Amino acid sequence: MDVDGKVVVITGGASGIGLASARAFAAAKSKLVLGDVEAGPLEAAVASLTAEGADVVGVVTDVTREADVLALRDAALSNFGAAHVIFNNAGVAAGPTIGTPTKVWEWVLDVNLNGVIYGLNAFLPLFLEQNEGHVVNTGSLAGLGGVPGMGAYCASKFAVVGISESLFHELALSGANVGVSALCPGFVKTRIFESQRNMPNELVSYNEDPRARAIADIAQSAVEAGIDASEVGQRVLDAVVQRKFWILTHEHAALRTTEQRLEWMRGGPAPGINLQAATKP
Ligand SMILES: NC(=O)c1ccc[n+]([C@@H]2O[C@H](COP(=O)([O-])OP(=O)(O)OC[C@H]3O[C@@H](n4cnc5c(N)ncnc54)[C@H](O)[C@@H]3O)[C@@H](O)[C@H]2O)c1
Repeated sequence: MDVDGKVVVITGGASGIGLASARAFAAAKSKLVLGDVEAGPLEAAVASLTAEGADVVGVVTDVTREADVLALRDAALSNFGAAHVIFNNAGVAAGPTIGTPTKVWEWVLDVNLNGVIYGLNAFLPLFLEQNEGHVVNTGSLAGLGGVPGMGAYCASKFAVVGISESLFHELALSGANVGVSALCPGFVKTRIFESQRNMPNELVSYNEDPRARAIADIAQSAVEAGIDASEVGQRVLDAVVQRKFWILTHEHAALRTTEQRLEWMRGGPAPGINLQAATKP
């Protein structure tokens, strides 16, 4: 897709990978619609992108509410007359498999999985009708292999990768001029392990759970050793332009994770996690 002048909608666009991708698309002269649940950072993101010359609007959006995601689409149509790319990027991390309360599982699945489903149902009909568009869904290395301490997160990311593969085949069968990509990063320097900042109030006490804290601390140091979000933004842009399905920011780790699962299925030992590999591209 030639993204010059096209309208790109990004959920979770106020920080991290979403904001870095907005910068990459702005440099390619796309128009931007950013949705985020955090009003202050969203306002700051829109102000700084506007100062850099981008054509951008921000809409406070909670992706766990389908009506908000539909309103985000409508904001693209009313401000720019069209939408061409939906980047389902908003996400949160929490939740070891052992001991995570059901409500915390539900919150992670609500943001990371239902948020993607609402994005698909809001934008796909439009893309199919105009026979032009591209969907980017955010999975993770944790959507390609099980990671200890992250059951809820893995559940959501495996689901997003599965949906994206299913959509790829449906689009290929339909012959529609609509693409889909699955973004599966390793560790990227963002605030993902400060996700508790967006937790519903009644769940916040869960963050004091020693198991949850231990996992968050390990993951936080891995994220700090990760790659810069701008590298991911550039890869997302390239994948949309070149219509590539897999966006593997840490290709070696992604391929190794997949190979190890295959070896395990063939009777080899269960793969261990290699945090070091997941921080280096
Ligand atoms: N950083 C990493 O190492 C890494 C690795 C693999 C995948 N990811 C995925 O990348 C995506 C972006 O995360 P990030 O790393 O940039 O983290 P981040 O915390 O910097 O950004 C996430 C954004 O999502 C927003 N958000 C959270 N809940 C929301 C909701 N209910 N509705 C709307 N917006 C909401 C946050 O306010 C924030 O702006 C996530 O889906 C995450 O799971 C990140």
